[in-house]
Amino acid sequence: MGSERTLIIVKPDAVQRGLVAEVLGRLERRGLKLVALKMIWMSEERAEALYRVHRGKSFFEDLVRFITSGPVVVGVVEGPNAIAVTRQTMGATDPAKAEAGSIRGDFGLTIGQNLIHGSDGMETAAYEIGLFFQPEEILAYERAIDRWVVG
Ligand code: RTP
Ligand code: MG
Repeated sequence: MGSERTLIIVKPDAVQRGLVAEVLGRLERRGLKLVALKMIWMSEERAEALYRVHRGKSFFEDLVRFITSGPVVVGVVEGPNAIAVTRQTMGATDPAKAEAGSIRGDFGLTIGQNLIHGSDGMETAAYEIGLFFQPEEILAYERAIDRWVVG
């Protein structure tokens, strides 16, 4: 499978708990390459666009309130199977069901505060990256170590 890009968000709970470096570090150590990164305080409009597929669900309002409750770190990571690999590194949506060793399984307790967002498919990733980044903010660069990570 070819190289993919996916959007990640270090959610407000992780920022408040001082887990930004821990969360980003796990993705970096997995071998994924950070190609864009910034800290923002998400507007309600942006949050509703991000979670548009959940509009109308019982948890939608709580979700928007939570993701806009404080600063977040948004980024784009790149690598082979980046979407699935990021989701696996995150763990299941509900931290109570997430495997130990995953971000949510190691640091989370409840579904409402699950530390990290990652896009769930190719089309979603393209849409979500476009919500937060201009094309010129996504940096194309080589890492010497990729010889040992990607092959
Ligand atoms: P995310 O979009 O944040 O990366 O999480 P996900 O793909 O693992 O989960 P998704 O189904 O997209 O749900 C988005 C967020 O909504 C909250 N949620 N609450 N109370 C509930 O039943 C419920 N279901 C989902 C979670 O915070 C989830 O991350
Ligand atoms: Mg999702």
